Amino acid sequence: MTNDISLTINGLAVKVPEGATILEAAQSAGVYIPTLCHCPGLTSEGTCRICLVKIENKKKLHPACRTPVKEGMAVVTDDAEIERVRRVTLELLLSDHDFNCLLCPKSGTCRLQELVNRIGFDERRLNRLNRVAKDLPVDTSNPFFDFNPNKCIQCGICVRTCREIVGVHAIDMGYRGYELKASTFGDKPFKDSVCVSCGECVERCPVAALIPKKMEYP
Ligand code: SF4
Ligand code: SF4
Ligand code: FES
Repeated sequence: MTNDISLTINGLAVKVPEGATILEAAQSAGVYIPTLCHCPGLTSEGTCRICLVKIENKKKLHPACRTPVKEGMAVVTDDAEIERVRRVTLELLLSDHDFNCLLCPKSGTCRLQELVNRIGFDERRLNRLNRVAKDLPVDTSNPFFDFNPNKCIQCGICVRTCREIVGVHAIDMGYRGYELKASTFGDKPFKDSVCVSCGECVERCPVAALIPKKMEYP
């Protein structure tokens, strides 16, 4: 039998089972925390940092998706400082993203677009950050889906899906820094990899990096 843990979130008393994360506690209380690299059913790696929250008496901000609750914890999910950090995090993600929502096949269902609408960004700061947009070739070799690395936000959801749900390990994160992206072994076309075309990663990709063939590029 698991013990219940009592904490407060934005002053609201919340009780959740031991082992729950701050994100799960917030969701159980109807408190919104933005997420991007978190995907229910997969381990949380805390890579995107969009879910950072404050914990009373702690100096650093903590990722809600992978921080377990503790008895008596007092969490703040939203204030001016958290908003500023989330906006800068989003701007860094956008700085090398092929950011043309109007022409994007995922427009309307894209998680990154949803966060831009909710959190916003500072256009002048983003322009200062702006790198030359990636212009990598789109891998259309798989008969069922395409992989556009220019849209990849390095969330790792596809990698964890293939490893933890499908058990195939067809993809991993490849390259470093601005070049970081999801990649098959040796960065081969999908048709030459061990991918079994199950589509589970395509289903979970939050942006238009992995998309079903029917979602045509303009
Ligand atoms: S391909 Fe999609 S799911 Fe995979 S790391 Fe890139 S954005 Fe995330
Ligand atoms: S479609 Fe291929 S890469 Fe994606 S989860 Fe399935 S086996 Fe892995
Ligand atoms: S959703 Fe928590 S770090 Fe990405």
